[in-house]
Amino acid sequence: MRTLALPAPRRSRGRSAVFLAAAALLAGLAVAPAAHAGDGRKAEAATLHDLAEDHGRYFGSATDNPELTDTPYTELLGEEFGTITPGNSMKWDATEPQRGVFDFTKGDEVVDFARAHRQRVRGHTLLWHSQLPGWLTSGTWSADELRAILKNHVQTVVKHYKGKVFAWDVANEIMNEDGTYRENLFYKTLGPGYIADALRWAHQADPKAKLYLNDYNVEWIGPKSDAYYELIKQLKADGVPVHGFGLQGHLALQYGFPGNLQENLQRFADLRVDTALTEVDIRMVLPSDEAKLAEQADWYARVTEACLAVKRCVGITVWDYTDRYSWIPAFFEGEGAALPWDENLKAKPAYFAIRDALGVRPKKT
Ligand code: XIL
Repeated sequence: MRTLALPAPRRSRGRSAVFLAAAALLAGLAVAPAAHAGDGRKAEAATLHDLAEDHGRYFGSATDNPELTDTPYTELLGEEFGTITPGNSMKWDATEPQRGVFDFTKGDEVVDFARAHRQRVRGHTLLWHSQLPGWLTSGTWSADELRAILKNHVQTVVKHYKGKVFAWDVANEIMNEDGTYRENLFYKTLGPGYIADALRWAHQADPKAKLYLNDYNVEWIGPKSDAYYELIKQLKADGVPVHGFGLQGHLALQYGFPGNLQENLQRFADLRVDTALTEVDIRMVLPSDEAKLAEQADWYARVTEACLAVKRCVGITVWDYTDRYSWIPAFFEGEGAALPWDENLKAKPAYFAIRDALGVRPKKT
């Protein structure tokens, strides 16, 4: 049958794909597969998110506001992913630049983009030791003042995005490598109870949002992930609303693959919380070469397989999808090439490896 020149479906995932295909069948037409892998060849129609959805998971990407003017970039961003995380625009310095003065312009821009593309939004992040506004870090606060500031921040931001953000990284990077609490501004003045408080306040502001603790270097079992395991267990025992543990997944080829990732995800699932890989990128010492890109592809597949093997691992987010906008080169000297698409938006071996890993059909039960 000749393919009619229907407008190519902008969204090809999930129900919309089924709907379009069914509608086309009824009309006796065929829908042309959308080519959007960015690899120059005719790609299969299913996106990474479509494939993840077949397993009941999502596949997402971070993005940042300046990038939203790059049309080839936004086309792929809008098509391939089911969830979006703002890389910077929901952090404290962006949302409350002056005490009590909130600015949601940039966060809203990301939410609007996501909604226009029928994507869900992961909120990142309500409290963190980094990217705090100057007024907060330079002030001297009594415990009562700081508690009130934190409560107001958490509740104002969560309320603003109520119904628009499905999960929040409530607390980001609150542990040290040795499993002790990071002595951030909040810990120093309020003690460890600020974590349970923040979770409770967030829950009051949006009872439907899934609330996460999120950190890096927690992909393997060790003192840092153990500390989260114990903390989450205690929070659950105390009836504190905590629903998920986010493993950022900033991996580096030179440090070896976190071999017990799946086992680690499973033990959190056994605590009855969700897990998610929230900021995945797999960097390498530059220059990249074929062997490193092949190893990177294998790691992306292994991360994906680990998540798929654990029921409560709900999704994977890459920390932006293209090397064009990766944070790595600016933060890790001499390293980069960390994402599944290269600087020219061309799909790398990692992209195909993720596809293959997601393409294995779930067993029917
Ligand atoms: C990074 C952003 O991608 C950069 O643009 C910014 O300059 C610094 O922060 N862990 C996190 C993220 O939780 O918020 C960080 O994002 C990357 C490390």
